[in-house]
Amino acid sequence: MRIAVFASGAGSNFLSLARSCIAGDIPAEIVTLVASKESIGALEHAKDLNISSQVFDPKQYSHLSEWDLALTNYLLGLDIDLIVLAGYLKKIGPQLLSKFANKIVNTHPSLLPKFGGHGMYGSKVHKAVIEAGEKESGITVHKVSAEYDKGQILAQSKVFIDADETWETLEQKIKTRENKFIVEVVLQIVKREIKLC
Ligand code: GRF
Repeated sequence: MRIAVFASGAGSNFLSLARSCIAGDIPAEIVTLVASKESIGALEHAKDLNISSQVFDPKQYSHLSEWDLALTNYLLGLDIDLIVLAGYLKKIGPQLLSKFANKIVNTHPSLLPKFGGHGMYGSKVHKAVIEAGEKESGITVHKVSAEYDKGQILAQSKVFIDADETWETLEQKIKTRENKFIVEVVLQIVKREIKLC
């Protein structure tokens, strides 16, 4: 399977996936890292691991449709079978969604449908979870649809929230778990144990 990973930040999930593919733990190749902007940590990881990367920053295009088309054509040219959004903050465009229907998954750091949707990313998710007094949170891997965090849920992993938990400790706890969980779920997708359609 030929995989593209999309990232917008530090790229710890990308790093974890890339290492697992290189080690042969996931029988697949990460063909490219797509970054939504320059100078993000994920790009450094790609460079260190000799994985090709490309920045597709919507701000560099006069219309979002041009950005969507350029990105779609780039991925079609690479014969990509699966796209993993790993900390990717841009909304997927309609071209990409239709050409890669049932081939795009996202990891989200909460138990969807709770604490998802537009504007719910990064620390905002964990702050909202703590403020709501939740007893547990976790990670959701889901199919990507036209709406933020609304696609079919494929897998979830729970973490318990301690009485003295802060959003910072929760974020760290979830990130540590997520770095492993994304590998487990992508492996299941590659082995067709989780079916995308
Ligand atoms: C992850 O927690 C992911 O679920 C969320 O953003 C974070 C990205 O982390 N959407 P990283 O860039 O993979 O380190």
